[in-house]
Amino acid sequence: MRLRLLGLVVVGLVFGALLALAILPGAREQLIARIEPLGVTSVGKASVGGPFTLTDHTGRRVTDKDFRGKYMLVYFGFTFCPDVCPTGLQVMAAALEELGPKAEQIVPIFISVDPERDTPEQLAMYVPSFHSRLVGLTGTPEEIQAVAKAYRVYYRKVKDEKSTAEYTIDHTSIIYLMDPNGEFVAHFTHATPVDVMVEKLRKVL
Ligand code: NI
Repeated sequence: MRLRLLGLVVVGLVFGALLALAILPGAREQLIARIEPLGVTSVGKASVGGPFTLTDHTGRRVTDKDFRGKYMLVYFGFTFCPDVCPTGLQVMAAALEELGPKAEQIVPIFISVDPERDTPEQLAMYVPSFHSRLVGLTGTPEEIQAVAKAYRVYYRKVKDEKSTAEYTIDHTSIIYLMDPNGEFVAHFTHATPVDVMVEKLRKVL
């Protein structure tokens, strides 16, 4: 009897989780954010990040080498994202604000996982609303695929019937801190409290 009850509870929990994933926009994104950091930790430092060639929000072609000598705070997302991406970028911006002059050692970077819609022009309208120094990066689908793979970022186009935008994108919500040599230092998520991020950044800088 007790076993059967336990079985029912487990089935209920699994069903509930699946239902949440199916009906709640953003639930998948948040679940991914919670699962992915564990994966990142277990694969070790050296395997996150790597070379990239992309186009910034001013239309300039840039590579990872253009950011050498500075820390990079890198977040992957897309400008049509309703809530998770804006939250992640707000956390980054607030942390930099809190750091004061030390923040100048860090370049905040937003890499689009929606290259179809996120043109440099689209990014140029988007990034300044979060931080004056936020660099928006986009590229060809192949270039985005390559950089997402290097940073172990998962993203996938998903049909969105409710939205006029036709599709949304499920994606990993991790903020990566890379050192002046482009090596992985630490990661955060859009749910990291600002003061926790600030404390970590202060220790590293
Ligand atoms: Ni997003």
